[in-house]
Amino acid sequence: MQKPRYYFLDNRSTVNVDFSKLGFDYLACPYRFEAVFEHGVWRVRGMIEDGTVHVPEGSQCLHYGQQLFEGMKVNRGPDGRPYAFRPLENARRLNEGARLLQGPEVPEALFLRGIEEATLANLPYLPPHGSGAALYLRPMYLGIGDNVGVKPASRYLFRVFVSPVGPYYRGGFGPDQGKSFMISRLDRAAPHGTGHIKAGGNYASSFKPGADAKAAGFADALYLDPVEHRYIEEIGAANFLAFKGDTLVTPDSGSILRSITRVSVLEIAAAIFKWPVEERKIAVDELDALAAAACCGTAAVLVWVASIVDGERRWEFPFDERWHQLYEALTGIQTASREDPFGWRYEITD
Ligand code: PLP
Ligand code: COI
Repeated sequence: MQKPRYYFLDNRSTVNVDFSKLGFDYLACPYRFEAVFEHGVWRVRGMIEDGTVHVPEGSQCLHYGQQLFEGMKVNRGPDGRPYAFRPLENARRLNEGARLLQGPEVPEALFLRGIEEATLANLPYLPPHGSGAALYLRPMYLGIGDNVGVKPASRYLFRVFVSPVGPYYRGGFGPDQGKSFMISRLDRAAPHGTGHIKAGGNYASSFKPGADAKAAGFADALYLDPVEHRYIEEIGAANFLAFKGDTLVTPDSGSILRSITRVSVLEIAAAIFKWPVEERKIAVDELDALAAAACCGTAAVLVWVASIVDGERRWEFPFDERWHQLYEALTGIQTASREDPFGWRYEITD
């Protein structure tokens, strides 16, 4: 039998933080997991206490954006135990990014070890069940080395840090929590570029559209397709969902991040509620014909889109009870409050 890595006196004790009041902010936790790749081998450094990343000044991640990250949540179940949600999907998306950015893949076993150890070492920071907060995990992938040429790094760092978080959009989900979004004329990603992977550069390009939208009083920017500026892409850091009549529709695009939450919501809609689902282009002109709109993601979970504005044009969407049904089913599975017919929940055990 394998020896446990951590020994807990109980699995419910937490640090003295009011988890129900948290926003989506960084709260330093004591430990982070780190591994380094060099000479063709990933070597585990293990759990470290230093929250500062030390990398050479010539590192590709600093100059040329050879960098990726992931975003995941671990929830505490009613039994006090930690549950991740589809972590292998995050590992696979990170590795799709690694291939595109010409770096080595992170073995899935190493990725899982990183999220397990980072969770277990910081277990008192895992918010209590029912607090509405979760432990956010941030796996990072950095190309490092002494370099100045424009070429992929020969060394890489894989780190997982954690932070307890509350809702990404203040207020989270609810029939009184409709959010408004402003259509951006700037693009976050290029066609056939890096929009579908979690490369940091995509987020740097989103700062100006996001800031413009917030300065105008909106929750975030909504992006259009970067070719014709005619079709809906995604919202801030969340994918777009809508109901057209009975059908749950969502954009088909090569330049949006393929949200793990979105594929899960689509599967829930089809398998549990037996609603038709369609992934297809959604033109801005079609917004008039949509019955309801929302956006979803790990950080955002599911958020009701109450209005979309484009200059003088404005579209309003009522709260739809189907968002509530989807939200309950999704978060029920994530927080272990309901059965998981899909096998998505991943219990983190020692
Ligand atoms: N779109 C963008 C740009 C994101 O950053 C995220 C968050 O990861 C999402 C969508 C939602 O993806 P997921 O559901 O996998 O978290
Ligand atoms: C997530 O939903 O996990 C994200 O990564 C979005 C954002 C915080 C960048």
